[in-house]
Amino acid sequence: MIKLVVCVSGGGTNLQHIIDRISDGTIHEAEIVRVIANNADAYALERAGKAGIDAVCVSPKSFDDRGSFNQALLKAVDEVKPDLIVLAGFLVAIPPEMIRKYPDRIINIHPSLIPSFCGVGYYGLHVHEKVLDRGVKITGATVHFVDEGMDSGPIILQKAVEVMNGDTPEVLQKRVMEQAEWIILPRAIELIAEGKVRVSGRRTEILESPDMEA
Ligand code: GRF
Repeated sequence: MIKLVVCVSGGGTNLQHIIDRISDGTIHEAEIVRVIANNADAYALERAGKAGIDAVCVSPKSFDDRGSFNQALLKAVDEVKPDLIVLAGFLVAIPPEMIRKYPDRIINIHPSLIPSFCGVGYYGLHVHEKVLDRGVKITGATVHFVDEGMDSGPIILQKAVEVMNGDTPEVLQKRVMEQAEWIILPRAIELIAEGKVRVSGRRTEILESPDMEA
């Protein structure tokens, strides 16, 4: 059984799908021991509360400088001794000392097929705006390990999603979440919890078919 910390900033739909997969037994080797939000208004905190999961808010606004915030964030993580840290729409730069302390033990969900549409400024709806601006026909989502770059760590799972005529950024975001994010993030956790993800350099090997829903 591995212990998860899930870091959130917003509505928490990705968190909810992890909670649901654990409660329906799809993920049976992991438990969420703490949810950490960077803002008190994140509905994700409500979701954690309803699921009886310890939830804390560590907000940059409560600290005089970034260094003190980073320390508080790392303390909130260290306290529960997680095996895996899951960034589920966490819009905060992860402190380098945290990445160094948890090598290949921090994963992130990004709403595009990395290396497209990622890096500085590519988060949330902005990603889908750029996808529509560029006119690509296929987008999707990526789960990757977090390294000290931005969206640059070894890719674990990806899932493609079709861009449809007339899509708005909001409609496309919802489709990417429904058809990709909410499937591959829990699946990646399940595979890691079962010891089926091996990192070799910038690549990963999945030791069984990722067999995600169609
Ligand atoms: C989603 O847009 C996801 O692609 C991105 O952050 C947002 C998280 O949404 N990583 P939620 O808080 O999980 O609903």
